[in-house]
Amino acid sequence: MGDLLLDDPAPFVRRLTLNRPEARNALSTALLGEIADALDAAAADDAIRTVVITGGPKVFAAGADIKELATRDVPGALLDTRVGHWSRVRRFPKPLLAAVAGFALGGGCELAMHADIVVAGEDAKFGQPEINLGIVPGAGGTQRLARLAGAQIAMKLVLSGEFLDAAEAKQCGLIAEIASDPAARALDLAVKIAAKPPLAARLAKELVLAARDAPLDVGLAFERKAFAALFATADFKEGVGAFLEKRKPNFAGK
Ligand code: CAA
Repeated sequence: MGDLLLDDPAPFVRRLTLNRPEARNALSTALLGEIADALDAAAADDAIRTVVITGGPKVFAAGADIKELATRDVPGALLDTRVGHWSRVRRFPKPLLAAVAGFALGGGCELAMHADIVVAGEDAKFGQPEINLGIVPGAGGTQRLARLAGAQIAMKLVLSGEFLDAAEAKQCGLIAEIASDPAARALDLAVKIAAKPPLAARLAKELVLAARDAPLDVGLAFERKAFAALFATADFKEGVGAFLEKRKPNFAGK
């Protein structure tokens, strides 16, 4: 079996399962490349509308592969192919969910933060312990954590290497939900989202990301245009028609 398992557990839903238990799902460059490739393939495939990424029952992902990091030098870090892999993960245009059980540390926490919706198990632990290795987070951890959870929490985690438990992560907005079976709940949400009109879902994702990353004026103007553009879709007619005819809509993504 490979380090990344792919399956389609429901119509329109692809699941990526990190599968390096012997290294606690550490994100080797090869594994990160496989994740980026799998997301590129899902982005290009009209039969896939949402993706769920998950790990094992005790560890989501323990971060970058420290055995690989041990040989990294400055030019190697600057020219690292990982940068390109991470930007492909960041650019994934469809709704991405993460089901986190156990540890999501370093690059594992950063991977979870790339997801649009994170569902965590009651035992989940989130942290950016890179400081213990003499480095700092390198895949957006300082920036995303500060934006998602606030500067105080980001400072605490990044400076002390302490972890947040699931309840703390929920309280500070790092995750959407805590579930007794996070994999099942994330899948349930993915199935629900996959039944929505895919063009509207893609734009909704872009708009909420813009709320985090762009000034309010820019985000509001973008929302206005996206709102108007969706009136041209067949899915808008289908959604409204289904409501008026009191039937379930069947969205084609057109
Ligand atoms: N990279 C490589 N190997 C790792 C690893 C990692 N991030 N995390 C764990 N492993 C390996 C261990 O070396 C060990 O291998 P051996 O059996 O060959 O000795 C095996 O996985 C089991 O590890 P543990 O005995 O530590 O497992 P545990 O279940 O007791 O603890 C854990 C799990 C809490 C996740 C712990 O392994 C841990 O703290 N891991 C490191 C977490 C970390 O520091 N992450 C930050 C990495 S740096 C980074 O991510 C930078 C970046 O974003 C750019």
